[in-house]
Amino acid sequence: MNKIIIGNWKMFKTKSDIAEFKSNFYNLLSNKPIKVNYGLAIPSIFLSYAKQLFHDDKQMLILAQDCHYDFEGAYTGNISWSQLKDIDVIGSLVGHSERRQMFGETDISVNKKNKALLANGMISIVCVGETLHDYENNNSIEVVLKQVRLALINVSEIEIKNMLIAYEPIWAIGTGKIPTTKEVCSLIEKIRNLIEELYSKEISLSLKILYGGSVKPDNINSFLSNDTINGALVGSASLNATDFFSLLKETDILNEK
Ligand code: PGA
Repeated sequence: MNKIIIGNWKMFKTKSDIAEFKSNFYNLLSNKPIKVNYGLAIPSIFLSYAKQLFHDDKQMLILAQDCHYDFEGAYTGNISWSQLKDIDVIGSLVGHSERRQMFGETDISVNKKNKALLANGMISIVCVGETLHDYENNNSIEVVLKQVRLALINVSEIEIKNMLIAYEPIWAIGTGKIPTTKEVCSLIEKIRNLIEELYSKEISLSLKILYGGSVKPDNINSFLSNDTINGALVGSASLNATDFFSLLKETDILNEK
């Protein structure tokens, strides 16, 4: 399966930073074209700008970091999936742990957002992951499977085809600490078993499940060389064009193997 790398820019970058990223990134790409699929989850205020800027790059998916599940409404400060669609943004992250921990995102709202995106033909990347406390108490599997199960309520067999899951242990995000590849694979296998139970073997095998949490050019190989892990969701190492390009280059070599 072709791997996919998604950068998450969080609340970083100005317009001129994005233009600079673009010119550095395409300088690097012009010397070494790559086949891997990639995307960036951009701060919503710059989505239109990024759509224009990266317009010629058919490999680049421009994604949002969050959206509201209603079509429209009195939700001050929010952006709906339909407004994203209106500017040709094809999908969004959903339930990133920073939204769950700092902005009151719940399994219920994650499910509503996931369902709304998928029902409207958009891509949804649902983020799940356990806290350090859960990890240390051997509760990772239970916590993560519950998050996945709840995110999937009312999601049909057809809709799930546009969904990806990003497994991101919260204790690994932005900390430089990483789980072993074996731990990640074993958790991803458990997610696949659940998907098989809820849908089918075929769907469980075709669903893309990414790993996220302190992924860097020097450790991406250890994760992605394993067939169980279909890609990466990357925060800080996606901010810099050189690092982002290195992540893609490493992944491209693996795809060719
Ligand atoms: P990080 O962030 O790569 O900086 O750990 C990952 C994420 O938040 O998705």
